[in-house]
Formats: sequence, structure tokens, C-alpha cells
Amino acid sequence: MRLFLTGGSGLVGSNVIRAARQQGDWEIIAGHYGPEPEWRAAWPRDYVLHPLDMADLDAIRSAIAQVRPAAVLHCAALLDHDWLDANRAAAWHVTVAATRTFAEACREHGVRFVFISSDWVFDGQEPFVDEDSPPHPVNFYGIMKFACERELASMDDLDYAVARLAGIYGMNYSNPALLRDENGLGFDLHNFIIKRLTRGQVAPIWMGPKTNDIAHPTLASDGAEQVLRLVRSDRRGIFHCFGSECTSRLEMAYSLADLFGIDRSLLAPVPTDPEVLRAHSRVQIPYRIRSSTEKTAAALGRNTLGVQAALHRFKQEWDEFQEERMAS
Ligand SMILES: NC(=O)c1ccc[n+]([C@@H]2O[C@H](COP(=O)([O-])OP(=O)(O)OC[C@H]3O[C@@H](n4cnc5c(N)ncnc54)[C@H](OP(=O)(O)O)[C@@H]3O)[C@@H](O)[C@H]2O)c1
Repeated sequence: MRLFLTGGSGLVGSNVIRAARQQGDWEIIAGHYGPEPEWRAAWPRDYVLHPLDMADLDAIRSAIAQVRPAAVLHCAALLDHDWLDANRAAAWHVTVAATRTFAEACREHGVRFVFISSDWVFDGQEPFVDEDSPPHPVNFYGIMKFACERELASMDDLDYAVARLAGIYGMNYSNPALLRDENGLGFDLHNFIIKRLTRGQVAPIWMGPKTNDIAHPTLASDGAEQVLRLVRSDRRGIFHCFGSECTSRLEMAYSLADLFGIDRSLLAPVPTDPEVLRAHSRVQIPYRIRSSTEKTAAALGRNTLGVQAALHRFKQEWDEFQEERMAS
């Protein structure tokens, strides 16, 4: 199946490419924007790169007309929440206008369109949400994701689906240099925790305001497999392709330390650093999101992994990743 993928150099996109490679019957054309992904023996360039800046709406139209994929998976996004908030017009253009343009081009050429959205369309205040719950975003990123979802729902005769993801963590197989290993307010803390704890350093886990304290963390490779299922299916509407269980950042950190056999007493739950609160003063973050993946699992015939199973798979991927990096 010929798939045009945006964001192939990103955390999610690189795992989509890897999952597609393992499944074997995909032909991937990956739109890329920044520097070319790093190529290593273990991660062969077995797909085509198509330069594309989402800000260039004409380039989006001609990419779809030229490539003529069976489906488009739109993973690329801007994720710097402070920048998005401070540059709303530019962000809207690259996010909402670009998504609308992809969708129009897909409709024109009879191509299925799958858009990656986020659990941050919710405000994190409801006790429970699912695929049918009304969104209530609290930051500009969430507002734009919701706007994209509504644009797609409003288009007649569009073969589309929305795959919401949440708390993505894992390996970036396109560009290892992009692996984040700094402290943060979401669930992508794994590399930070492993780095600090293996050096015998304390890892502060921020608690309280401005943290996404509870979510459904999603191992990127597991989410990628679920999203590819959605691409292959003919299902329409909204799907929760994130991890099947929710947990807190602290519980996740403890489980990670135990799994890696490192000293969990070095994990320090502390109030969010005041400097960090000041730096992000304009941007709200959904606090606690509890949801369900059951409807999506029933529709796609597969559920995503629970917290512990995903962490075990993460450990395996981590070990393989280190070996591959050493070997190349
Ligand atoms: N990370 C999470 O926790 C999370 C949670 C929920 C949903 N999501 C969604 O999942 C998707 C993937 O996120 P991610 O974590 O994989 O992000 P990521 O690692 O930051 O990757 C973002 C991708 O977007 C591409 N991109 C940025 N600006 C572009 C432009 N102007 N034109 C074309 N491509 C551009 C980047 O390409 P270059 O590298 O070439 O610049 C990169 O491949 C996004 O839609 C995001 O909103 C993520």
C-alpha cells in the first residue's frame, strides 16, 4: 500500500516507518522538512524522501497529485507550545490550513486521509472522556487540533479518520539526535530518568500545576502499529490510538526505574520548578486525562498495550537501540 507520511523524521513518524518496514507490504513516501534523517545500517533508507514544508499549501497539493498514494498519514506538527501561543497566525496556517489542504487534495484524488490528533483536545478536568466526549482544549495547540478535527468532519465525501495519540515516548529511529533527554511536563521523561539515575543523580519529577499528571502514555511503536491499522481500515471518525491504561507520571517513573534495575529512591517528586512555571506562564496544560481505548480496539480488532507491557517493550527497544548505535 503506497502511503504518503508527513513527519517521518519525528518520534511517531519514525516508528510508523519502522512498523511499516516490519509489516513489509507498505511503500512509504515520507515528506521531510528539516535536515535529512540520519541513516544507519540498522535503519536503512528503504523509503523515498519528498521535501515538503507544510507552510507551502501549493507544495502540499502537488505532492499528493504527484505521489498518488493510497493514503496520507499526517503526523507532522509543531509542538513548541510557547511558540505556538506567541505566533498564532503562523501556527494556524501550518497546522489548520495545511491539514485542510491535505484533506482537499486527498478528496480530489480519492485518497484516504488519516490525521494525527491529541488527547490535549481535552482539558484534563473531566473524570473520564472517550472518543465521543466533547473536546474542551485549554491551550492553542489543543485548539488547533480540535479545529483540524472539525474541518475534516465538515467535509463531504472525504474518506478520513482522526487518530488521537497521548503521552508519546520511545525511540526516534529516523534521527536519534532528536531523542529528548531533558526534564519535562508530559510523559516523555524516560530518557531523562534513565540518564540521571544511571549516573547516580537525583531525577526531579515535577508534580502539580503545569504538568500532565495523569494520561495514557503511549509507546511510539505500539501507537504506530495501531495507527497503521487505522490507515488500512475503512473506518471513519475519531479513534483513541493511545496506550490502553492510564497512569501518573510518578508511577510511570517508579516502574521505569524498577524495570531498568536502577535505584528508585533517586526519583524525587517535587513541586514544579518555579522557573519552569514562569517560562510557561501563558500556556495551560491538561492536568489529568482518563479515557478508554475500548471503542477503538473493537473497531480495529486490536488493543494497544497496557502500562507494564509497553514499558517492557520499551526496555527491549532501548537495549536494541543502544546496540545498534554502538555498532554503527
Ligand atoms: N509527542 C507526544 O507526546 C504527542 C502526543 C499526542 C499527539 N502527538 C502528535 O503526534 C504527531 C507526531 O508528534 P511527534 O512527537 O512525533 O513530533 P516530533 O518528533 O516533534 O516530529 C514532528 C515532525 O513534524 C515535522 N515538521 C515540523 N514542521 C514542519 C513543516 N513546516 N513542514 C513539514 N514537516 C514539519 C518535523 O519534520 P523535520 O524534523 O523535518 O523538521 C518532524 O518530523 C503530531 O501530530 C503530534 O501533535 C504527539
